[in-house]
Amino acid sequence: MEQQSVLTKIKEAAAYIRSKYTAAPEIGLILGSGLGVIADLVEQATVIAYNDIPHFPVSTVEGHAGELLLGTIHGKHVLLMKGRFHMYEGYGVDVVSFPVRVMKELGVKTLIVTNAAGGVNTSFEVGDLMLIKDHINFTFRNPLIGPNFNELGVRFPDMSEAYSRRLRDTARAVAAEQGIKLQEGVYIGLLGPTYETPAEIRMMRTLGADAVGMSTVAEVIVARHAGIEVLGFSCISNMAAGILDQPLSHEEVMETTERVKPKFLQLILGIVAKLD
Ligand code: 6GU
Repeated sequence: MEQQSVLTKIKEAAAYIRSKYTAAPEIGLILGSGLGVIADLVEQATVIAYNDIPHFPVSTVEGHAGELLLGTIHGKHVLLMKGRFHMYEGYGVDVVSFPVRVMKELGVKTLIVTNAAGGVNTSFEVGDLMLIKDHINFTFRNPLIGPNFNELGVRFPDMSEAYSRRLRDTARAVAAEQGIKLQEGVYIGLLGPTYETPAEIRMMRTLGADAVGMSTVAEVIVARHAGIEVLGFSCISNMAAGILDQPLSHEEVMETTERVKPKFLQLILGIVAKLD
């Protein structure tokens, strides 16, 4: 994609969203599989279908609605993506991360990302929530490859604190207040759509991964490039391959996220309330 046209697309998508909701959102939320219910907590929501936003791709996977919600949570203007784009759907890394560019253009300062992930750390239990302290980009795709957009960020972004220490401290404090068990660990992002083999999971555990999924890293890279502070959570929807003597299925992922929704919701709301 040619540089000028990408910047134009970002501005056109943002202008359309601004024409439907004038206030600048300070917090962006990207909700993963089955976690769209957090959208119900947005007050006075303006709903915009992805299809209606210029240059926005259309999400296809089951369990993901393609809608942008703008409204308030605890009096703060938020922009929430109900459903995200995945590379396994065939989208390029630039397409997957495009909405984060648009968020930046709209004024988002903080991005909260959630996903469903497989537990790689054997001490995790299905249904646990994991605060993402770092990630490993095992997609080997980077949305920043190509000419750098100096208007958006630097050529060589620092990733030594991709997931904000400050926000992680807040998340831990809120979880403790609410009596929610919060694991903390490293998320490894892959392309999918196959789940991993047991040998691959053993390798990833050796490499330092605690949870494995098919999203998040591209969005976080673009957010960090743009100077957006990031907070991420994985819902451990199932144990990764080879840990339990049972096959993996998307049904289990959906069942667990459904079950975990209420506590996940409570945690996110508590954190949004505490953000400055
Ligand atoms: Cl086990 N692997 C990947 N790649 N994504 C997942 C998962 C596993 N469980 C939920 N999402």
